[in-house]
Amino acid sequence: MQKRAAAERAVSLVNFDQIIGIGSGSTVAEFIRLLAPHAARIPGVVVASKASEAIAVESGLRVVELNDVAPPETYFDGADEIEPGFAMIKGGGAALTREKIIASASKRFVCMVDESKLVAALGAFPLPVEVIPMARTFVSHQLQLLGGTPDLRGAASTDNGNILIDVSGLKLLDPKGFEDKVNSIPGVVCNGIFAHRRADELIIAGESVRHLTQPQAMW
Ligand code: A5P
Repeated sequence: MQKRAAAERAVSLVNFDQIIGIGSGSTVAEFIRLLAPHAARIPGVVVASKASEAIAVESGLRVVELNDVAPPETYFDGADEIEPGFAMIKGGGAALTREKIIASASKRFVCMVDESKLVAALGAFPLPVEVIPMARTFVSHQLQLLGGTPDLRGAASTDNGNILIDVSGLKLLDPKGFEDKVNSIPGVVCNGIFAHRRADELIIAGESVRHLTQPQAMW
């Protein structure tokens, strides 16, 4: 219910005459379905996963490639954790790499969450890291050296044919610095810290729905 409420508020921010960037996950699934009545007017949507693509097609939306269109004005997506400065952990649904690409290409990032995703500091949710399969053991070892406990999610679990390693036990007090550190390990394609490309705006669904247009000092 709360995810639906967050998605409803997000739809009220959509400019239906522009290409829309769309992420992945259950909140996004609600968001895409709510776009269906407006499908005829929307020139196209750029989506971050095969799952989102299937729902978009079902909803009558025109799915276009990021390479073929001007950068989306706005990108809408959920998060697994978000801290008051609007840095996030994403990738619980395995779509982190494409999500980060589209989010980074878009001018504005609107994040939609229910209250359970709000945290004082990132790290309780295991950090998803997308890795080239042949680098699995090397990258796992490097992640251990950074203080984490790596856990393989399963073979070829991303839309890009790569594996995912979920890293628990991390204290992410410097999200930007840690995002850079993990990205610098050879074999890492992308990691789920969205600190460089953080959200610009946040919709939080709890007892009521709030729309924050700037980072906060604390929740
Ligand atoms: C997908 O890879 C993730 O980044 C999602 O944005 C995140 O897991 C949130 O998903 P829900 O909307 O299903 O909670």
